[in-house]
Amino acid sequence: MISLKTAHDVEAMRKAGKITAAARALAGEMVKPGVSTKAIDRAVHDFIVSQGAKPSFLHYNGYPGSACISVNNEVIHGIPGHRRIKEGDIVSVDVGAYIGGFHGDCAATYFAGEVSDEVRKLVEVTRQSFFEGIKFACPGYRIGDISHAIQEYVESFGYGVVREYVGHGVGSKLHEEPEVPNYGNAGHGPRLVPGMTIAIEPMVNLGTAEIKVLSDGWTVETADGKPAAHYENTVLITKDGPEILTPLKGDGYVR
Ligand code: MF3
Ligand code: CO
Repeated sequence: MISLKTAHDVEAMRKAGKITAAARALAGEMVKPGVSTKAIDRAVHDFIVSQGAKPSFLHYNGYPGSACISVNNEVIHGIPGHRRIKEGDIVSVDVGAYIGGFHGDCAATYFAGEVSDEVRKLVEVTRQSFFEGIKFACPGYRIGDISHAIQEYVESFGYGVVREYVGHGVGSKLHEEPEVPNYGNAGHGPRLVPGMTIAIEPMVNLGTAEIKVLSDGWTVETADGKPAAHYENTVLITKDGPEILTPLKGDGYVR
């Protein structure tokens, strides 16, 4: 069942979304050579708690961190640890915060110093693919319209779209119906109606779409060892179109 949010629920989700996006921005500012992924996780945790919220991911299905921090060939669900970020790395940070009974969920990939043109373009296309998808996050369209737009855009650059992990409804639970794949057929899937809240989150590989999960049970890496990028926002469907509930300021780009 797809839950539709009331005006009251939406207010609560705006609050959760603001805290979540601020945590992403804070993490993004910390992405620099020499910083450990654990230090970023701790800062994200402490910030979320300081706002009276709870980190959505901590202990979720046993997940041990407050943020997922995935470096270079790691696609998603990287576990924070003692690894130090190096010059030229790309670092994907995924955060969630729960307050007032609702979750926010967002992610972005950040550059540590100067990265290669090839990798910079991967990150930029991944972010833009979200905006290609959200064009269809309006009443009258279907989930498959979002999925198809993302896939078409990403594959036009020769990149691989991850299939095994998808976007999702988000609300009182972190993962709700419907699934929001980053590939699929236009005109298919659930119809979009006002009050739906979904996390649109393209995961894009520089090489092939194939991934593997490490023996830690969490870390998802590209099968070919090439870099990957991730970008995500929590989005409300309104009668007038999409509203991003995780504000973009600090999502990694100067506009
Ligand atoms: N934002 C991710 C998602 O949408 C990460 C959650 S996985 C967790 O699924 F276990 F770390 F919480
Ligand atoms: Co998500």
